[in-house]
Amino acid sequence: MKKALARCRTRSAGTASPFARARMIHPAADAGVGSPAPFVRQIFAVAAIEGEEKLTVTALGLYRCFINGVRVGADLLTPGWTCYDKRLSFQTYDVASLLKAGDNVIDIWLADGWYRSQLMWGADPIFNCWGDKLAALAEISNRSGVVVATDSFWQSGLTPIRKSGIYLGEVYDAREEGAPADKGCSVIAFDPTVLVAHESNAVRELVPLAEVRSWRDAEGRTIYDFGQNAAGYASLVATGEPGARLTIDHAEILDGDGGIDNANMRTAAARIEYVLKGGGDEAYRPHFTFQGFRYARVAIAGDARIVSIASVPISSAIRPRGAFVSGNALVNRLVENTAWSLRSNFIEVPTDCPQRDERLGWTGDAQVFAPTACYLNDSHAFLRKWLRDVIADQRADGAISYVSPDPTRMQPQGFPGFFGSAGWGDAICVIPWVLWTHYGDRVVLKETLPAMVRWVDFLWSISDGPIVSTPRTIGARGFTFGDWLQPSGTSEKPLPTTGDDFVATVYLFISASLAARAAEVLGDKRVAARMRQRAGTVRTAFQREFIASSGRLVYDDQTSYALSILHDLIPATLLPAAARYFKEAVARTGNRIGTGFLGTPALLPALVKIGEPALAATVFLQEGAPGWLYQVKSGATTIWERWDALLPNGRAFSSGMNSFNHYAYGAVCEWLFQSVAGFRPDADEPAFRHVFFEPTIIAELGSVSAHHDSIVGRVEAAWRVKGANVIYDVTLPADSRGTLILSPSYADVAVDGKRRRRADRLPLGGGRHRITFRLSQTAAASRAERQRLTNVSSTWRSEGRDG
Ligand code: BGC
Repeated sequence: MKKALARCRTRSAGTASPFARARMIHPAADAGVGSPAPFVRQIFAVAAIEGEEKLTVTALGLYRCFINGVRVGADLLTPGWTCYDKRLSFQTYDVASLLKAGDNVIDIWLADGWYRSQLMWGADPIFNCWGDKLAALAEISNRSGVVVATDSFWQSGLTPIRKSGIYLGEVYDAREEGAPADKGCSVIAFDPTVLVAHESNAVRELVPLAEVRSWRDAEGRTIYDFGQNAAGYASLVATGEPGARLTIDHAEILDGDGGIDNANMRTAAARIEYVLKGGGDEAYRPHFTFQGFRYARVAIAGDARIVSIASVPISSAIRPRGAFVSGNALVNRLVENTAWSLRSNFIEVPTDCPQRDERLGWTGDAQVFAPTACYLNDSHAFLRKWLRDVIADQRADGAISYVSPDPTRMQPQGFPGFFGSAGWGDAICVIPWVLWTHYGDRVVLKETLPAMVRWVDFLWSISDGPIVSTPRTIGARGFTFGDWLQPSGTSEKPLPTTGDDFVATVYLFISASLAARAAEVLGDKRVAARMRQRAGTVRTAFQREFIASSGRLVYDDQTSYALSILHDLIPATLLPAAARYFKEAVARTGNRIGTGFLGTPALLPALVKIGEPALAATVFLQEGAPGWLYQVKSGATTIWERWDALLPNGRAFSSGMNSFNHYAYGAVCEWLFQSVAGFRPDADEPAFRHVFFEPTIIAELGSVSAHHDSIVGRVEAAWRVKGANVIYDVTLPADSRGTLILSPSYADVAVDGKRRRRADRLPLGGGRHRITFRLSQTAAASRAERQRLTNVSSTWRSEGRDG
């Protein structure tokens, strides 16, 4: 098949249209949401191929384009997902190789996609979110001008796709292939100022996953296990009689009785139906949908059989940039699981999960995961594009929506007040700063600063001098999800041990501080001073409200200590006492994790910060629930939404809200890179031009090796432990510089063979360095110590105090 190359031009919304003549056309064949997918067609003559013919194309709905029967490009789910009413992406392809002198035919298939298929869950699904009419806008041009452009003279007809939807799946009847274009098209009103060139790479297929085993269930259907949970679709080759029907259902887990369990997909049918045309092998992959699955169950009605089947993962995350490997296979699998959850949930927007009736751009999930996403993948353009959607969804009073693109902004009836949660909306301050730190992107700071300030002002407006008060009813102004899914409380709005007001106030502090720093980078002194002053006021009030004079926090739990210690909210004089209480809070849960979405990324860094790396290691490495490695030991191949999504008996915790592919808890990988392997960028010299190396040696891991391909080159760090001796090898890009910070407990430090007297900040130049030092105890001793702490966990468990 000839290839058309995708090219991305940059253009911001509001500038001149990239279309000289094309009009947005609606196919008369389109009968509305849930009906067969239509196509629009034109036959056009080309006198001679100049070699620079380009197709510029977009749609209301999803599109796939064919020229002379050959698919244009390999992009999926185009034009992508944005706040369509304000921003609509278009793509540009070189198509000279697909054209011929004489008559040519262009077909554009259209489908409901995010534009009008169901969004939001069961009780209040939103259909026709951005509109109820599918439409296409396309133009082929060359140096001499426009070759063909959509207008009212195009024809329309129906594709073999009888039904399709993001959650629904796809029904494809191969007997309907080649249907005529027997209807017309009409030009509809369209504002070209919303057009933007696709701002990140399009979604693409990844390497297919082969079936690892298959079996028949009680009803004779075949279940295929692809060995890996992922977002994508099954690709199959089948053969059989015309009219025979294959029905494919998808699941992340099995039910324990040889069947699949997909109850957790809720109202997402996530079903593919394929009707054979007969006459030989028929290859098929869905066009306008994706599912989150590891298992596919195929039922066959009529005379047909599967010749081959594979799972094809798809993702926007197609540029891996980092890896972390250690001497512990479970930890390695955890990192791999995180990378899979990243791929599965970076599909046009950063989503919570890829399988159930959500798949939405939840801001809180992205907020906690962004640093990990930047270590593992080139996430720059992807997150920058999404931030533009977040800004487009920002409400007049500065509130940031819970999800973006936000369907409830378009249709608020079922979800009034779906915006304004602290910890979620803070994505608008946290993520630009992450992009600045990792990629040195000043433009993103400039674009987002006004929205950051408006968000801080919003939080301020719901604060009361300036402790943020948080109503408990979802949708009420200032409601926050808090430390969502802490391992305590019920599954609905869990009652975490930390206070929602506490977490919201910490986030007001974080966001005001980041807005101040962003303004400083941009040289906006006035905004910087105002935001600094805000942050200062919050810190003072926070200390008065939430810290007892003993150093104990009024919310005496892991998340509260972790967040306030990590963000320097505890006065130095009280820190030793607070650290003691923090350790007690960890001990009370049997040295297991006690944090939800917001506390999790902070817990281990905060324990290291108070000088308790062994305790951090114990919490991290323990293998029971709640804990990261529990999931891995239970066979997880992606990160779970809940610590106990699968119970020790192998059954699902519940079917209501129980995703097996939710990246939030994978945010611990940031800690593995920056604290365990020990390298992190410096916001003062961003994009790894200056790198801090500060390893936390967890002797039980034996060895660790990590790298990250930054925009200035590869950064590497690897250590191995022999007895009490450590060899730490690091590599910096040629033009970068580094600073080595070693714990005062590490002795006999030598850098590149030269003994160093003091172990605090040592400068490193570009290139490779070998650092050696001695731990205060041998690996064996630290293993014994950890064993003791782990025993505490088991005692605590067996006494049944895990509520
Ligand atoms: C989503 C989340 C999200 C949360 C709000 C859930 O339904 O899947 O990951 O952040 O709601 O707390």
